[in-house]
Amino acid sequence: MGVNTASYFINYLYAMPVAEKYTQADFGVVVWKITETEDFFNERISYRSNANNANKILQQMASRYLLELMHPSFPFSQLHKMDNGKVVLRDSSIDFSITHTAEFTAAIMSAELKVGIDIEKIDKRVLKVDRKFLNQFELDWLSKLDVDSRIKYTTLCWSIKETVFKWWGTGGIDFANHIEIQDPGMLNQGSLSVNFSKTSLIALPIQYKLIGDHWLTYIAIKHP
Ligand SMILES: CC(C)(COP(=O)(O)OP(=O)(O)OC[C@H]1O[C@@H](n2cnc3c(N)ncnc32)[C@H](O)[C@@H]1OP(=O)(O)O)[C@@H](O)C(=O)NCCC(=O)NCCS
Repeated sequence: MGVNTASYFINYLYAMPVAEKYTQADFGVVVWKITETEDFFNERISYRSNANNANKILQQMASRYLLELMHPSFPFSQLHKMDNGKVVLRDSSIDFSITHTAEFTAAIMSAELKVGIDIEKIDKRVLKVDRKFLNQFELDWLSKLDVDSRIKYTTLCWSIKETVFKWWGTGGIDFANHIEIQDPGMLNQGSLSVNFSKTSLIALPIQYKLIGDHWLTYIAIKHP
């Protein structure tokens, strides 16, 4: 199956109530603020969620709707959930990644690159588990921030590590030791070079942006 995600974006995005959209030559990203009911999505796509609570069903429907927006006639019948939870298209080179919270959903898709995306609500509870996913270098630069900034940037670190985990796709990632994040310098958006040492040490370009009280992070790059 061939797909030119960039041209789909040009055709579709201007008329849509998306919260954010980014188009590059070889991948696309859409962020959607979920204000609709489940019926809205049921009427537009053939996918049906088998989640066991109404809010999760709504989030799953909304995230799959983004796939249809990026790739009209998205082949939902070819969707396959792997044992680790990653959803892929059978027999297709298209890679995509989805993320959802109660308020937002976002998706990234590419026919050429491997992709990962995460959207995370900033929440003080992140400080209760920070030592589980941060290394000493990261804890050190975060400890210099006031408490509100520490919550904000610790949540950003969590989101970045989730994005890398989803981009990698096959697990076996030690969040504290395989992924190292430099201080982004209190910015609300930008690009960060993140050290990833699951195989040999490489620098991963991560895009990040504050959207209200949520962090959006994503990556589109071939696997090493
Ligand atoms: C699977 C995981 C990445 C989901 O993240 P989340 O923030 O809870 O949820 P999101 O909304 O961002 O993403 C959910 C989507 O990710 C995708 N996904 C699930 N497992 C995945 C995996 N192993 N790889 C890639 N994508 C995955 C699915 O499409 C899922 O959506 P769906 O349930 O509607 O199909 C997360 O729960 C997880 O397991 N992270 C790793 C935790 C870890 O190893 N921590 C160690 C340090 S504490």
